[in-house]
Amino acid sequence: DATILEKKQQYNFELQGHRGARGLSPENTMQAFEKALNLGVNTIELDVVISKDNKVVVSHEPWLNDEITLDAKGKRITKKDAAAFNMYKNKYQEIKKYDVGSLGNSKFPEQEKVAAYKPLLSEVIAFAETKNTEILYNIEIKSTPTDEKNGFQPAVAEFSDLVIAQLKKAKLPVERIVIQSFDPRILEYIHKTYPEFILAFLTYQNDFKTNMKMLSFVPEIYSPYFVLLNKEEVSSIQKNDMRVIPWTVNKKEDMINLLNMGVDGLITDYPNIAIPLRK
Ligand code: G3P
Ligand code: CA
Repeated sequence: DATILEKKQQYNFELQGHRGARGLSPENTMQAFEKALNLGVNTIELDVVISKDNKVVVSHEPWLNDEITLDAKGKRITKKDAAAFNMYKNKYQEIKKYDVGSLGNSKFPEQEKVAAYKPLLSEVIAFAETKNTEILYNIEIKSTPTDEKNGFQPAVAEFSDLVIAQLKKAKLPVERIVIQSFDPRILEYIHKTYPEFILAFLTYQNDFKTNMKMLSFVPEIYSPYFVLLNKEEVSSIQKNDMRVIPWTVNKKEDMINLLNMGVDGLITDYPNIAIPLRK
């Protein structure tokens, strides 16, 4: 469809707030999305999993992270209990009881410590739209064959259908959404079933040419771990008509190097550092 293609090509540089703005506020929480929006990112990056009652929940893992989680009584969750907690076996009301903000995050010392819960995707979108009706959403479907096999997530088609149904319900224009995944099965399924959606291929190892062998088509965006990039790699990705948007770039010197390589965007925990570099 020519119109969709034209729209896909209309992007400016994408400055993405990773998990909201993890460097400054608890990851994937309303506070982090508010922070990112206030700082002026043009894209919010977030991760989604599915609850037992088929809600699309914003979370990096389909279990709990003991390093950042307090239970409903305000007690730190043990490593064992955190790992055993299966979101796909718990209703959202249960998941929401955990506080993933008050403890802070020792890896991000500047992060504010504030009581926070795991929000629904619908809630994040509704809120973001009140702040910026042009914001872009980079939504990562957190899917792996192992989590599927172990019962921590629905199968690929069901997982994708639930996320897309939620997005359709939010009535967002399709040009403002990117679906990203490390799982080629997710990308293949959405490409086939919902071809109107823009897709980003996430990778963490190997070069572009090798990774592309995992896909039967060319998605719009290639998002590698940033250390895998150099100038030649960036231009070979762009020559294949893909935009290159690396993750997760947190140091100013790395941001500058990547901007000099000509990347089309940056995914960062620190939009406060990246934004001034673009001005
Ligand atoms: O969007 C890219 C980046 O978020 C992928 O890594 O583990 O932070 O979800 P992760
Ligand atoms: Ca992510």
